Amino acid sequence: MKRIVVASKNRNKIREISLALDSMGIEVLSLEQFDVPEAPETGDTFIENVYQKSYFYVKLIGLPVLSDDSGLVIDALEGAPGVYSSHFAGVGASDKDNIKRVITLLNNKKLKESGAAFKCFMMLTFPDLKGYWSQGELKGKVITKPRGAGGFGYDPIFIPVGDLRTLAEYTIDEKNRISHRGRALRKLVGILKGEADV
Ligand code: IMP
Repeated sequence: MKRIVVASKNRNKIREISLALDSMGIEVLSLEQFDVPEAPETGDTFIENVYQKSYFYVKLIGLPVLSDDSGLVIDALEGAPGVYSSHFAGVGASDKDNIKRVITLLNNKKLKESGAAFKCFMMLTFPDLKGYWSQGELKGKVITKPRGAGGFGYDPIFIPVGDLRTLAEYTIDEKNRISHRGRALRKLVGILKGEADV
């Protein structure tokens, strides 16, 4: 395997994955380099979405495809926003809108915080449809007073276990070391390194 396509146009994600696979001599390509339609993402679970994206692009492009799906799971909201994290406050919602909706729902329950976790599922699929998958998790809690200017998504309301800072108060390197995506990626790299024929 010399080249893989990451099923995303998010440049931060592409950079993070390139860094991890660089030492294996693998070139990472972005979806931006291909003229392909957007894959459907209609699953009710992270795994369904990851499978859907992988198979859609591997069949169209004919190169190994790495896809991922992640989101925030909040205990007091029965696992919401989960797979709906990117558009929790509606189609086209901004990160601020989504955070506001979480805070409103926690306020309605008279809660100032709740246990929560970021989850990431990742899958590398080959043109012969052989696949490898991994997952990563970051446990912590969500709060109702956003803090910090870094990161994206729900970072301003998420505090990792054992810390007092929100993820939006972390540097990018610090976040990558502990993040759900970083963990899933390192596990996948570990699996690939152990596979002689990959
Ligand atoms: P994706 O599957 O990586 O595109 O993530 C889906 C959504 O989950 C994002 O749009 C964010 O709302 C949320 N999310 C995923 N990862 C993170 C993170 O590291 N910090 C904050 N929010 C995240």
